[in-house]
Amino acid sequence: MHIRSANAPDLSTVRDLLEAAELPSEGLEDQFGPGYALAIEGDRTVGAAGVERYGRWGLLRSVVTAPEWRGRGVGEALVRNRLAWADTEGLEAVYLLTTTAARYFPRLGFEPVERDLLPLEIRESREFTSTCPSTAVAMRYSRRSG
Ligand SMILES: CC(C)(COP(=O)(O)OP(=O)(O)OC[C@H]1O[C@@H](n2cnc3c(N)ncnc32)[C@H](O)[C@@H]1OP(=O)(O)O)[C@@H](O)C(=O)NCCC(=O)NCCS
Repeated sequence: MHIRSANAPDLSTVRDLLEAAELPSEGLEDQFGPGYALAIEGDRTVGAAGVERYGRWGLLRSVVTAPEWRGRGVGEALVRNRLAWADTEGLEAVYLLTTTAARYFPRLGFEPVERDLLPLEIRESREFTSTCPSTAVAMRYSRRSG
C-alpha cells in the first residue's frame, strides 16, 4: 500500500468511497486536488483523506478506508500523511468534524474542541454550515498537541 496525492480524475473514485461509507460528499469538488491523498494497493484505491484550506487553518475531511481494508493502518497512514502535508503548507492547526469517529482521532493527536472556539473561517466552511449536523464533534490537531 502506498499513498499518493490526488489528481482531478480521482474525484469520482473518492466520491464512491465516501458514498459507500455513508459519509457526505457534498462540496468535495470545491477544493479537490493536492490537499487530498489516496491509499493505493495494486490497481485499487483503498482509502482517501483530504485537508481543505480555510485561511491559516486546515479542515480534515473525507477520511475513509474501504471496508475490507479497515484495521490495517490505512486510515492512520492517510491522516499522518495529510497532517504532514498541512505542516509543509504552513497551516497552523487542522480541525475536523465527525459524527462517527470521535474516538478514533485522539490516537492521532486530535483533541475535542468546543464548536464556539473554532476559527471563524472553519465555522463558515461548507462542511460546517451545511453538511455536518450540529451534533458532530469538533476536534483539533496542532503540532503542540500531536
Ligand atoms: C475511521 C476509518 C477511516 C478508520 O480507518 P482504518 O484504516 O480502519 O483505521 P486504522 O487501521 O488506522 O485504525 C484501526 C483502529 O481504529 C479503530 N477504529 C476504526 N474506526 C473507528 C471509529 N469510527 N471509532 C473508534 N475507533 C475506530 C479500530 O477499532 C482499530 O483499533 P485497534 O488499533 O485498537 O484495533 C474507517 O473505519 C472508516 O472508513 N470508517 C467509515 C468512515 C468514517 O467514519 N470516517 C471518519 C469520518 S470523520
